[in-house]
Amino acid sequence: KIVYLQDYKPSDYLIPKTEMWVDFSPERTQITTDLHIERRAGVEAGTPLELDGEQVELVSIAIGDDVLGAGQYELSENGLKLLDPPQSFVLSTVVEVAPEKNKSLEGLYRSSGNWCTQCEAEGFRRITYFIDRPDVMSVFTVKMVADKDLAPVLLSNGNPMDKGEMSNNRHFALWHDPHPKPCYLFAMVAGKLDKISEKFTTKSGKNVDLNIYAEPGKAELCRYAMDALVRSMKWDEERFGCEYDLDVFNIVAVSDFNAGAMENKGLNIFNDKYVLADPATATDQDYALIERIIAHEYFHNYTGNRVTCRDWFQLCLKEGLTVFRDQEFSSDERFRDVERIDDVKGLRQSQFVEDSGPLAHPPRPSQYEQIDNFYTSTVYEKGAEVVRMLMTLLGKQTFHEGVDLYLDRHDGEAATIEQFIKCFEDVSGRDLSQFQKWYTQAGRPRVSYSTSYAAEQKLFTLVLKQEVPPTPGDDEKSPLVLPIRFGLVSNNGEDLTWEHAEGAEVQDDLIVTNEDEVTVTFHGVSSAPVVSLFRGFSAPVTLDTKASLEEDLHRARLDSDPFNRWESLQSAIMNIVAPAMDVDGPELDIELLEPVAVALSQTLDSQNLSPAFKALCLKLPTYQDYTQRLGQNIDPDRIKTVRQKVSEVVADKLRGQLVTLYSTLHLPDDYQPNAEQSGMRDLRNQALSLLATLKEGQLFELVERHYREARNMTDRQAALAIMCANAPDRAVELLDDFKRNYTEAMTVYDKWLGLNASIDDAQTIDRIKRLMDDDRFSLETPNRVYALFGAFTQGNPTQFARADGAGFELIADVILQIDQFNPQVAGRFAVAFRIWKNYESKRREAARAALERIKQSEKISPNLSEMVNKTLGG
Ligand code: ARG
Ligand code: ZN
Repeated sequence: KIVYLQDYKPSDYLIPKTEMWVDFSPERTQITTDLHIERRAGVEAGTPLELDGEQVELVSIAIGDDVLGAGQYELSENGLKLLDPPQSFVLSTVVEVAPEKNKSLEGLYRSSGNWCTQCEAEGFRRITYFIDRPDVMSVFTVKMVADKDLAPVLLSNGNPMDKGEMSNNRHFALWHDPHPKPCYLFAMVAGKLDKISEKFTTKSGKNVDLNIYAEPGKAELCRYAMDALVRSMKWDEERFGCEYDLDVFNIVAVSDFNAGAMENKGLNIFNDKYVLADPATATDQDYALIERIIAHEYFHNYTGNRVTCRDWFQLCLKEGLTVFRDQEFSSDERFRDVERIDDVKGLRQSQFVEDSGPLAHPPRPSQYEQIDNFYTSTVYEKGAEVVRMLMTLLGKQTFHEGVDLYLDRHDGEAATIEQFIKCFEDVSGRDLSQFQKWYTQAGRPRVSYSTSYAAEQKLFTLVLKQEVPPTPGDDEKSPLVLPIRFGLVSNNGEDLTWEHAEGAEVQDDLIVTNEDEVTVTFHGVSSAPVVSLFRGFSAPVTLDTKASLEEDLHRARLDSDPFNRWESLQSAIMNIVAPAMDVDGPELDIELLEPVAVALSQTLDSQNLSPAFKALCLKLPTYQDYTQRLGQNIDPDRIKTVRQKVSEVVADKLRGQLVTLYSTLHLPDDYQPNAEQSGMRDLRNQALSLLATLKEGQLFELVERHYREARNMTDRQAALAIMCANAPDRAVELLDDFKRNYTEAMTVYDKWLGLNASIDDAQTIDRIKRLMDDDRFSLETPNRVYALFGAFTQGNPTQFARADGAGFELIADVILQIDQFNPQVAGRFAVAFRIWKNYESKRREAARAALERIKQSEKISPNLSEMVNKTLGG
């Protein structure tokens, strides 16, 4: 069943108040709910009331004191209906649910013996009957009752009001959340948990108790998360003026969780891999992700919770804005330039791929079948880019006035993208109607440009063209508003000035255009510049870089914008290399790489660049970068061969420098996961990684020593990854050692799974099947699945996309198995096939066969069926 944005109408009934009484017991949990229901003003009497409810067993139902008999309501698989409810009444229901049997990890379920919930998007209807849509907001009071030994900890949203002992070794806790909220933000946790605590004083002097709970024995691993939380709370006050609004803020880390984390009001629930960390088990990257996700969920307290979404089409209203906020947080806490490059790499790796394939959709879609399939990188990461463009367009100050107005005007409401944009129009006086198309149009502009310089007139001319290629089901595209940060780079790297510019809106370092084609002329430019466009990646477009190698290298060496320095180096390499990856392409001419190697070498030698930035430059373009560039007829083996060759050539040219770098870059003994140290470790590991592609015995000795002497997980994992990529036989031995000595923590076990799955050799498929039989592996725990099969489908493209189809078939089998109990995860994994049409014919047919087999299977979930049909058909 397809849901359309245009069909939105407000709910006929509202539920201003909800009281719940939840009795946990090992076999069943009983939920008694009083809904204070009111017919919305203007709605006719006699309008039926439909409540959502799935997989809940109704025990009794009453209006006030009148118990309803069978004829007084209609019960179905999806809910219950009251045909002629009064204008204002209390509906009491008693239902039972079976969390022990719930493997979908939606609604109420058990993880390692503890009860927890996940309601977004539509999980609350698996806990009790309710109007499960985000614009129905209610004040919740929850009384939780459980056995004291089974569940000493009882948590829900809001503030703790009361707790006490009961008979039969039972106890209770009463929670009240004064902020009206949609039911997707409801949460409960009951179980045996340890915690660490901290106090936070808000800027107006309010004291808040902070707690992070984890499974017994794991609380100490939450220290870094707590530190990140405190910094997030402070930052949100300073940068956005957002002050925390309850007496307590609780986080619970659980080991079975479909997504990364969830922003339930006052009770965030996390996938524990985004909470637990110490230097022995977590890498620098893990720390950075924890910091970010802690911040992300905390920031939702305003962008998402205080102002929520009118309907699920508006998902990017909260997610895009909140991702933007977490990106800004990381940039303020770490190195802004490096964060930006990393974020853009991530965007290209997932959102660009999504956008170029059968699943392309706008940040705000206008129809969906299963909303859970729309928690995509387009909604999240592209959504964040659109918010960033608003800031670029309006300037930081006006942008912040707009956000302030939005949070103020819509506080306590469920809002839309239009209302959000209106706030920025109101503070800036600018018409943003065309800008808004960024939210509603799928695909991304392809921008090309040409330049000329007339020395006598000191005239520089820039012609810009944009074109938005069609996406499935949408060929009519209109041009978008492009904020283009730019500079005219002189011979010596300084930005040239000009007297005046015409042809488009040009202000300082920003060009704004909204046309298919525009010619901008700059008067009074003293010498011929190399133009640097989309500095800082100021708009999510594909820039056709037909730029000459000299131009790219000029920017790579001299651009004052670090993003474009990095970008130009990458693009120089891709321009040389990509043609050789084409199935009918020429051989790689390695001579051409010489000047690029020189530029890289200069980058490494530079005194002004940070180790973190240099490390990014040493990461040569990825497999996905090339598949994006090639577009079609992709042969992963060929890409792999050419990439290997490129690394070898570059490594050979930089050999001396890399060896010196590796052996002389010294880190402090005291491990800190901060940006400085992370950058240094990254650079050192990148140097080793590039060297190892030379595949020399001596270098492998060095890698092995790096593994043995590693004093933190970052270096240890890096050594293993290098070995997996370059010497499968030696990697297999090291991985045995790693398993024996380090994998007690499940987070490390997952690294072991992923490393194994990344090995590309004749045993790959068998190895993965063996791993699936390992005692600690289970398809029921999403983290195991993401670790093993994520590394396989994303990190081992030559084996996943084998020409004989064995990789596709394996993943199809796994998806079908998981779909039997966890449709959300099955649906997510189907995206592994989204580029199937871009393969060369043999692989294309093999992928199609695997997809068809999933499609033809009996009893597949609506989630999976939507994904597979779109992937095949789009
Ligand atoms: N709102 C959560 C977050 O960003 C993610 C919830 C995911 N839910 C889902 N059904 N996929 O922060
Ligand atoms: Zn979010």
